[in-house]
Amino acid sequence: MIDIKTPRDLASMRRASRVVAKTLGLLKILVKPGVSTAELDRFAEGKLRELGAVPAFLGYRGYPATLCVSINEEIVHGIPSEKRIVREGDIVSLDLGAVCDGFYGDAALTTGAGSVSAQALRLMEATELSLARALAQVKPGARIGDLSHAVEECAAENGMSVVREFTGHGIGRRLHEEPSIPNFGKPGAGPVLKAGMTLAVEPMLCLGKAGIVIKNDGWTAVSADGSMAAHYEHTVAVTENGFEILSAVI
Ligand code: MF3
Ligand code: CO
Repeated sequence: MIDIKTPRDLASMRRASRVVAKTLGLLKILVKPGVSTAELDRFAEGKLRELGAVPAFLGYRGYPATLCVSINEEIVHGIPSEKRIVREGDIVSLDLGAVCDGFYGDAALTTGAGSVSAQALRLMEATELSLARALAQVKPGARIGDLSHAVEECAAENGMSVVREFTGHGIGRRLHEEPSIPNFGKPGAGPVLKAGMTLAVEPMLCLGKAGIVIKNDGWTAVSADGSMAAHYEHTVAVTENGFEILSAVI
């Protein structure tokens, strides 16, 4: 069952998602050579609480932090640490979730520290574009496979691979709701979208081959071939005419 949100539910989701967007925007400025990933996490938790929200990831299935910070070949779920220092040329994926009045918002972006390679820039651009192309599919009557295919096609056009082990998801009163939104699939397949559904769409692309490994910490997902990965995510609502990006900064 895919939950349909009321205008009132959507107002809470907009609040939670905007707190996430605002905090991610500020974090992006803090990503510089020399910063530890634990410092980024502390800032994220403080800012979320200051803005009246509660961290969504902290304690979720035992996850120990507010923010996920995944660097270079790390794809998602990197655990912040005092020992992990961002270096010149790193690409840093920041994933953040918040709760306001019982509703969740979830978003992610990848940013470079100092000057990054042309390859890394291409990867970040293609991943962000794949998110835009998936979102462009969102309207009542469209199917989840339309979004999935848009991501896969964009990755293929750019000679990159999509991560198949993690998916986007419905979101609302819980962080993960139905439907699951794979980053590969067939147009016209899967659940039909209706106005009032809310989705977290989150393409993850790698420069190299598909395939992941989970590190010994039980969380950090890295590309099996060691190639760089990027991750972008927005929380969106299906509207009568198309979609609204709830996690956009206005
Ligand atoms: N955006 C990720 C997701 O939807 C973040 C979850 S991280 C966790 O799965 F730490 F909360 F697990
Ligand atoms: Co998510």
